[in-house]
Amino acid sequence: MEYDNRPVGVFDSGVGGISVLRELISLMPNENYIYYGDSLNAPYGVRPLEEVRKLTFATAGYLIERHCKCLVIACNTATTAAVRALRARYEGVPVIGIEPALKPAVLHKPDGRVLVLATAVTLKEDKFRRLMCRYENDARISTLACPGIVEFVERGIIEGDELDSYLGRLLSDYIPNPPDAVVLGCTHYPFVRSAISKALSHKSEIFDGGNGTARETRHQLTLNGLCGSPDKTGSVTILNSRPEMVDISKWLLTVDIK
Ligand code: DGL
Repeated sequence: MEYDNRPVGVFDSGVGGISVLRELISLMPNENYIYYGDSLNAPYGVRPLEEVRKLTFATAGYLIERHCKCLVIACNTATTAAVRALRARYEGVPVIGIEPALKPAVLHKPDGRVLVLATAVTLKEDKFRRLMCRYENDARISTLACPGIVEFVERGIIEGDELDSYLGRLLSDYIPNPPDAVVLGCTHYPFVRSAISKALSHKSEIFDGGNGTARETRHQLTLNGLCGSPDKTGSVTILNSRPEMVDISKWLLTVDIK
């Protein structure tokens, strides 16, 4: 059997996609990874769609120049803006895009209350609207844009009083009667999963799309004959448009977030 040891390219608007990289490494420790965070331009989720698309194309192009065999868009906002166009542009290169993990959240409790947290761009575009339509008869789904969480995580703040009081204000409508399930529809949010759970008195089951994205990546690599050699440990290279963010990224790769 032939193996392909070229790197898997993973990218996000900043350090959030490290939550997806963690899942990829745990599922496929033998692969080589290049992770690119565009912290200089974060947050993407409050920018016009066309701007997000341009930034996403620039990063994808950079990873393709570095001979990546597939692209994992570890950013819900960038997936919304550019996944289709990227697939058309790079035919023959699998492009996997994360999306909010609505399905498992809806299945969690029949006719339950599901709250989707994501960026304003993700929530308002057609891609998410279509996903929501698919499940609207199975659960009572509400959405909440969360400007601010990305900035906390980019600063390396994933717990503490400042974050708790911010989340208390953000989630105030849901605190008296927490939803059955919460979907973390932005890859930065898994890093504050415990703080979100605490704000909702640990009454909500919390879902994110990281593991599903890693499994879909493995599926695409297998399908396209692109798997790396199974008998070695892969490498991880972390790059960022703000080089000082590389240390925070490395720390986020190891920190306990369950
Ligand atoms: N981590 C990103 C996401 O999954 C985007 C955050 C942002 O830059 O606004 O949507």
